[in-house]
Amino acid sequence: MKFVKGSGLTMQDVLEQGRKILKKAKIEQSDPESELILSAAIRKPREFIYTHPEYALSRSEKGNFANFIKRRAKRLPLAYIIGVKEFYGLAFFVNKNVLIPRPETEGLIDLALKEINEIRQTGIDKIDIIDIGTGSGAIILSLAKTILGSRIMNDIAFFAVDKSKKSLIIAQENAKRLGVNEHIQFLHGNLIQPYLKSTQRKRYKIQDARYKIFLANLPYLTSKEMKNLQPEVRYEPRQALDGGKDGLDVYRSFFKQLAKLQNNPFAAICEIAPGQKNEFLKIVKASLPQSATEFIKDLSSRTRFAAIENPPR
Ligand SMILES: C[S@@+](CC[C@H](N)C(=O)[O-])C[C@H]1O[C@@H](n2cnc3c(N)ncnc32)[C@H](O)[C@@H]1O
Repeated sequence: MKFVKGSGLTMQDVLEQGRKILKKAKIEQSDPESELILSAAIRKPREFIYTHPEYALSRSEKGNFANFIKRRAKRLPLAYIIGVKEFYGLAFFVNKNVLIPRPETEGLIDLALKEINEIRQTGIDKIDIIDIGTGSGAIILSLAKTILGSRIMNDIAFFAVDKSKKSLIIAQENAKRLGVNEHIQFLHGNLIQPYLKSTQRKRYKIQDARYKIFLANLPYLTSKEMKNLQPEVRYEPRQALDGGKDGLDVYRSFFKQLAKLQNNPFAAICEIAPGQKNEFLKIVKASLPQSATEFIKDLSSRTRFAAIENPPR
């Protein structure tokens, strides 16, 4: 179906055309998606569409809408088209250089808040929170925004690490938009290494008594899953998804690095796929034999997170 040209088309008219095109492209949520695309194309809030159905689009607004709908029909993710994804009640700017934050990952923020609370109750009040593989910054920025907006903590430092420089640029942009930029240290490199370097302490001989909480939603798709990705997911960065043969290669490297911190108490909260529980536990135990691991389910009752304490408190 071609996008009908014409002058004086109202929002109602173009919405109808947009919906039809998306439906034909087998986009399930064609109605709300058409509205979100229209709202982005005319740069007005979605409510404007309901209150002004007779509004006639300008030539450039019509052009934007047609272009966005065409790209969505090719299964480019909606968030990359409109440039925004809501996560933990906040708006995150996203583009093809970062993974689109997933709703299930919000559970990781709640677990981190719980962990912080428990640590404080033991009398520790100096904490470093390190988000490994920050992507758009969704995890660390949501947490920083929540903590800084409350009176949860006095001495807390936030770190965001990624091996992708392009994603760090997006995370920084999001930090600015959310007004927390000056509270976050952005670090480029492999897993926990840049954090250790940044603290400028002797390698792996950290004297400081700061408690460390590592948060990680590292790539965990298996090679088989990588071959059968949904059309939309194919547009997302491979290095944000690909976890090697069994999906756990990056986590293996992560725990090998964490093993070097043996004498420093820390916690790690990780997101995994439900079927990876047993192999994940083996990886943790091989690197951190003294640690305690608890698995936590997501809202769909599937094992999604692992909380590791080393040593157990
Ligand atoms: C699944 S995405 C998660 C992004 C974001 N934290 C979220 O939850 O939406 C994984 C991220 O880890 C990063 N990454 C992959 N391997 C890494 C490594 N060895 N060191 C640092 N970051 C890595 C990727 O670039 C990507 O941004």
